[in-house]
Amino acid sequence: MSETKRALITGITGQDGSYLAELLLEKGYEVHGIIRRASTFNTHRIDHLYQDPHDPDARLFLHYGDLTDASRLVTLIAKVAPQEVYHLAAQSHVRVSFDEPEYTGNTTGVGTTRLLEAIRMAGIDTRFYQASSSEMFGATPPPQNEDTPFYPRSPYGAAKVYGYWIARNYREAHDMYAVNGILFNHESPRRGETFVTRKIARAAARIKLGIDTDVYLGNLDAVRDWGYAPEYVEGMWRMLQADEPTDYVLATGTAYTVRDFVRFCFDHVGLDWQEHVKFDRTYLRPTEVDSLIGDATKAQEILGWKAQVLPPELASIMTQAELDAHRG
Ligand code: NAP
Ligand code: GDD
Repeated sequence: MSETKRALITGITGQDGSYLAELLLEKGYEVHGIIRRASTFNTHRIDHLYQDPHDPDARLFLHYGDLTDASRLVTLIAKVAPQEVYHLAAQSHVRVSFDEPEYTGNTTGVGTTRLLEAIRMAGIDTRFYQASSSEMFGATPPPQNEDTPFYPRSPYGAAKVYGYWIARNYREAHDMYAVNGILFNHESPRRGETFVTRKIARAAARIKLGIDTDVYLGNLDAVRDWGYAPEYVEGMWRMLQADEPTDYVLATGTAYTVRDFVRFCFDHVGLDWQEHVKFDRTYLRPTEVDSLIGDATKAQEILGWKAQVLPPELASIMTQAELDAHRG
């Protein structure tokens, strides 16, 4: 019988971390996740996966830790000795990164080095996934693939470029199996409520149900390539099973504006969006990323990965989930 594989997920309480934990548990892994201590509960996305850690059959274990706490990362990596590390934790909000540029650099950027260094110091044979982002392409026009030059437009994008290169450097300098998944926007009913797709889907449902009347948004002209998060975590896993470590784009290859996504969600509930969507400059960014459209040919050819759910269906899935949740 083969040995149970151990994986460590940073950011397990986030959108992607929760889907990835589900996937790895289904695949028979022992899953370890790093969570942050907070004054309120922050594990709602993974509560359905809870297992008593004292149960001899338990395969999900949670550990307190933080990307800014290097000694804790060193201790945890040595203790868990994972065969696979999925590094998903980050201050991941682009707009917020303009307000907290230093903190974003410390967590999203240097946090990656702390984790890689903890793995190197432990001297363990570990495969490492870095959650890189299409935000790194920033101002470089689409279509964007693995060879497209980076031109980040936010402190978040700049921190992710640093994370990308430090992961590549550990691959080249220390012969580590480290890969960058350059993921375009991916969404789901578990998306954070302040990201635009979830905000729109939630608003459409609440307006339909008579709870709210309006929603305030910023730039409706931005073009994004929105996919479905559960498919993207499958892509992450496939990247760590490949023969050779290399970097991959995951994207749908489709282009829609924020306005299009608004229309899809409001159409789902049978409302005219123009009667309910208002403009608020608070949601504009000092520098915007106008257009992200990915080319995932490499992932399709090497990993056999291809996005199935496209934005119109995604908007329906998310809006319906909001209706269902609000109706209880
Ligand atoms: P998310 O929902 O915002 O989750 C972020 C996770 O990181 C949460 O678990 C959060 O913990 C944790 N975290 C934040 N700061 C931390 C710190 N200092 N120490 C330890 N943990 C910390 O993000 P996501 O959408 O799942 O994205 C996962 C990763 O992929 C992120 O690195 C993101 O930047 C990247 N990415 C996302 C997309 C996308 O479209 N979703 C696209 C490309 C790349 P709390 O729950 O305690 O806040
Ligand atoms: N959040 C937000 N809120 N965005 C708005 C709003 C609003 O009220 N109104 C318009 N937008 C526009 C933003 O200006 C941006 O052009 C677009 O909607 C998408 O914004 P977000 O949903 O916040 O996502 P993002 O594209 O900035 O970043 C996400 O995707 C990246 C991958 O490209 C995040 O998940 C990042 O962590 C990820 O790396």
